[in-house]
Amino acid sequence: MPTHVAIMMDGNGRWGKQRGMTRSQGHFAGAQALERTIDAALELNIKILTLYVFSTENWKRPKAEVDDLMKLPVKFLHTKLSKFIQKDIKLIFSGNINGLPEPTRKAVEIAAEKTKNNDKLTVNFALNYGGKNEILTVAKTIISEVCNSAMSVDGINEETIEKHLFTKNLPSPDLFIRTGGEKRLSNFLLWQLDKTELWFTDVYFPDFNKQLLIKAIQEVNQRDAQKLS
Ligand code: IPE
Ligand code: IPE
Ligand code: MG
Repeated sequence: MPTHVAIMMDGNGRWGKQRGMTRSQGHFAGAQALERTIDAALELNIKILTLYVFSTENWKRPKAEVDDLMKLPVKFLHTKLSKFIQKDIKLIFSGNINGLPEPTRKAVEIAAEKTKNNDKLTVNFALNYGGKNEILTVAKTIISEVCNSAMSVDGINEETIEKHLFTKNLPSPDLFIRTGGEKRLSNFLLWQLDKTELWFTDVYFPDFNKQLLIKAIQEVNQRDAQKLS
């Protein structure tokens, strides 16, 4: 079983359109699939699930869609937080959290605080996350440490960078899944995915389920077995 699975939940908008619904209704269905995926990860004893829910590029979408996407975590956490607490799930958030609208920022900070001592499963929401933004943020922090003489240039190595990433306390993902048919990284975990197995499916995220998660894990495990034989 992989320890850390990272999922780019793509295809919500097309799922809605295909059914004559709005893109936002597709995102709502995506949130329900997200809850099912968290339950599946618990049942499979996966320890860390990173979910890409909003990228730094997604601000360029129409304002009404962005507004709905920012309200979704507030609604989702309002109704589900007690269930996550009861299931011993820790919620963490990677990305530029200070750049979120106030109600969204507050909802995620409360969720992180209330679940910080849980340890059955860590769910890491990549929210207002961009891999380039993350690396840029790390570079700025390290440069200011050098300027303050807290660090020397020769002392900087890969570990220094890893220690400053949003994912600093997490091992790298063993498995990356992208739903929705596109085969791009779309600025997700650019540093962390260097050795990760990549798996793609045409299924839109609202139709993602435990069977597909198991299929991804089995196919990637077969790749590993072939490498060894
Ligand atoms: C992914 O679904 C969710 C977010 C980016 C928030 P999309 O909204 O990208 O759906 P498609 O790819 O347009 O179908
Ligand atoms: C990636 O999907 C971002 C999330 C799933 C949150 P996008 O639909 O935004 O990415 P592109 O536009 O296909 O690269
Ligand atoms: Mg998309």
